[in-house]
Amino acid sequence: MHILVTGGAGYIGSHTVQELLRAGYRVTVLDNLSRGHMAVAQVLDGAEFVWGDIADRELVVGLVRSRGIQAVLHFAALSLVGESMAEPSLYYHNNVVKGLSLLEAAREAEVPCFIFSSTAAVYGEPVQVPIEEDHPLAPTNPYGATWCWWPPPGVSGKSWTGAPLRRRGNHRPHGLGVAPAASRGL
Ligand SMILES: NC(=O)c1ccc[n+]([C@@H]2O[C@H](COP(=O)([O-])OP(=O)(O)OC[C@H]3O[C@@H](n4cnc5c(N)ncnc54)[C@H](O)[C@@H]3O)[C@@H](O)[C@H]2O)c1
Repeated sequence: MHILVTGGAGYIGSHTVQELLRAGYRVTVLDNLSRGHMAVAQVLDGAEFVWGDIADRELVVGLVRSRGIQAVLHFAALSLVGESMAEPSLYYHNNVVKGLSLLEAAREAEVPCFIFSSTAAVYGEPVQVPIEEDHPLAPTNPYGATWCWWPPPGVSGKSWTGAPLRRRGNHRPHGLGVAPAASRGL
């Protein structure tokens, strides 16, 4: 099975690529390197690296069709809370507008599975712990708010398998020797 990993040169994406390769999947990484590192892309031995933007619909559709991609794992996003408060439109444009363009491209190319990496920041200050999927959405910053614009699984059209991944605190250094996002002020 061939998987397209967007944001594969970033923190979460690069570790996901490593695990996918270890598990025997074929992987193509799509990253514009606006935040990721070419050095990371280069050590992802066995993955194809494509420099490009998730909003380039022709590129995405072409990649999916030419590689026979059957799943998209979407990690290409801006993810710094402080920056999102200083520049909210940058975050809405990248995470919502461009992200939904990617979703549409994947749908046009008939990818059967699309998984995007959301964040527990959609819940804001939790009213109950542990946080369940039906916890009310109350983000306290634009970064968290951008992920509230994404359609919930099942409403994206056709018979998609959709799932948002939400996590808190992926801050342990691991694997590639690259500084985790925590060190950049998350
Ligand atoms: N790091 C965490 O602890 C954490 C926790 C919860 C959720 N997340 C989510 O995981 C995802 C990835 O976060 P991260 O910490 O790995 O960030 P990161 O900045 O390390 O990686 C993001 C990657 O996406 C790329 N990118 C951004 N916009 C792009 C675009 N328009 N086109 C192509 N490539 C683009 C960047 O160049 C970078 O390589 C985000 O959706 C974030 O919300 C991260």
